[in-house]
Amino acid sequence: MRDKAKNMSILIPFFSATGNTKKVANVIKKKLDDSNISVTMLDITSYSRREEDIFINQYDAVIFGFPIYSMRAPRVCREWLETLDGKGMKCSVFFTYGGFGKDPAHYFMKELLEKQNFELISTAEFLGAHTFNRSGWKAVVNRPNESDFKIARDYTMKTMERFLGNDLNKLGEFEKPIYKKSQFDQAEKYRFSLIRQLPTRNLKNCSMCGLCEKLCPVNAMDASIGTANNRCIACFRCIANCPEGILHTNDISGSWNKKLETHRMTQEEVESLESKIYL
Ligand SMILES: Cc1cc2nc3c(=O)[nH]c(=O)nc-3n(C[C@H](O)[C@H](O)[C@H](O)COP(=O)(O)O)c2cc1C
Repeated sequence: MRDKAKNMSILIPFFSATGNTKKVANVIKKKLDDSNISVTMLDITSYSRREEDIFINQYDAVIFGFPIYSMRAPRVCREWLETLDGKGMKCSVFFTYGGFGKDPAHYFMKELLEKQNFELISTAEFLGAHTFNRSGWKAVVNRPNESDFKIARDYTMKTMERFLGNDLNKLGEFEKPIYKKSQFDQAEKYRFSLIRQLPTRNLKNCSMCGLCEKLCPVNAMDASIGTANNRCIACFRCIANCPEGILHTNDISGSWNKKLETHRMTQEEVESLESKIYL
């Protein structure tokens, strides 16, 4: 693979509010760097970055990285993808997720990327500590870990084989979800029945650095009043990055057992989930 691969240029656009997707993106980048493949990282978490023109066709292939929000890629990422034209370019997508309801993300992503003229050749899912653990849940804590990163390195090499045309197999079809898109749209609102108090700070201890406002992916945080408005998507980027650690939501620990029950899973079963590659 080495000689052909050396001339390839790969773009890795990723959205990562609390860092899990970025961790996996960095492992993929390192694996490509080690194979002397040219890689460009594009962090699209910020609102301003998603507004910039991106000249995607100057690359040979793209590996997108997204978290799963309400069983699909985040709405802001899907809207960003709708601005791209792949012009037949090969691409792959990896997700990070907190242990629940990940299958629709693969199906809808394939549908969307094909509509945008990309050829999706592989996907993958990696466990990542659930964002809502910061408000009291206990889903796949301490992930992604080395076992996930090992699968990420394997995913990188298998994906490269497809990009290079050494593996001519096609990505299989994903099962069509039984629910309609409108029902998934409805499910997006579920987060706000849990997170009733949007990120808010304890005013007394705030250094007024303004990072929460600067980093907000949807311009929802107002640092001067220390709370997010209803544009907030509950991504927790502000909470994860607050230097004083003083941003918080309401405590949702009481809903954790109900969450396990709804998904008919035990804590042990959630913790023993494994990351997976789809080819
Ligand atoms: C609004 C929201 C909805 C989420 N929905 C799901 C979900 O449906 N299934 C799941 O397993 N994890 C879900 N998660 C957890 C994230 O997918 C997971 O923590 C991910 O690794 C976060 O990536 P990041 O650290 O790169 O932001 C959700 C997180 C947020 C913020």
